Amino acid sequence: MIQGPEPEATRRSAGVTESSRANRGWWDRNADDYQVEHGEFLGDDRFVWGPEGLDEAEAELLGPAAGLKDLSVLEIGAGAAQCSRWLAARGAHPVALDLSHRQLQHARRIAEEIADEQRDSENGDGHAAGSVPLVQADAGSLPFADGSFDLVCSAYGALPFIADTARVQREVRRVLRPGGRWVFSVTHPVRWAFPDEPGPEGLTAVSSYFDRTPYVEQDDRGLAVYVEHHRTLGDRVREIAAAGLRLVDLVEPEWPRWNDQEWGGWSPLRGRLLPGTAIFVCAAE
Ligand SMILES: C[S@@+](CC[C@H](N)C(=O)[O-])C[C@H]1O[C@@H](n2cnc3c(N)ncnc32)[C@H](O)[C@@H]1O
Repeated sequence: MIQGPEPEATRRSAGVTESSRANRGWWDRNADDYQVEHGEFLGDDRFVWGPEGLDEAEAELLGPAAGLKDLSVLEIGAGAAQCSRWLAARGAHPVALDLSHRQLQHARRIAEEIADEQRDSENGDGHAAGSVPLVQADAGSLPFADGSFDLVCSAYGALPFIADTARVQREVRRVLRPGGRWVFSVTHPVRWAFPDEPGPEGLTAVSSYFDRTPYVEQDDRGLAVYVEHHRTLGDRVREIAAAGLRLVDLVEPEWPRWNDQEWGGWSPLRGRLLPGTAIFVCAAE
């Protein structure tokens, strides 16, 4: 493969279209590495909210697991759909949405592997085991009718990469039924001020928590190839409220003793001192 020069990291504005185009390309190019690096931690059908390893099975942020049966669920930024598979195993009807077709190909690969294993072990046909509906779309324009879902969830999917997150909140409110729930995890906003490093250099604030200028990696023509957007905690709360959603809880998982794994800038060292993940639990009125 021909490799170009390393992209340049900078802070500059990046709009909706540029961010979406850049991140679709980035996730398509990096999906294989992401699944190799994190696939074991994510499991084939585990629902984990972030690098701390908080499992939905334990946290029940979507409500009691026993109550998930027959609920319609949209997972946004589903990657290889591990969370959707966990939901399907509890009788829910998930749809896994992602911008990256390569991530969704991994979802299909895992479903086929599970089906093959079932066929071998049970002598059944393995049909549909582990398979959930997959949709390639941008979270900023959800291709579903109003009130289609009982639950919407996202584990680090889409929101950190989107320029207009207020629009995503409105879209989620639109596709949720009244009384439905929306739970999403993102990088904890305080991390924005620190270098994204797992070691001691990641413990000293070097930039302003209040600076919303996006982090952009761009090629030698100045075209963005990766974009991350920052919202303060207050920004997130305001966007949730403005969309007609009610914030029920804000969960900041602590780093557990058993977890000795690093994930990019998340590490036991930093996890002991700083929050790494923020999980917003919201209700549609
Ligand atoms: C950090 S990964 C998380 C994937 C999965 N939830 C997990 O826990 O492994 C972020 C995912 O968000 C997706 N994504 C990024 N921007 C998106 C957008 N605008 N709309 C939908 N998905 C997006 C990426 O393709 C990627 O699969």
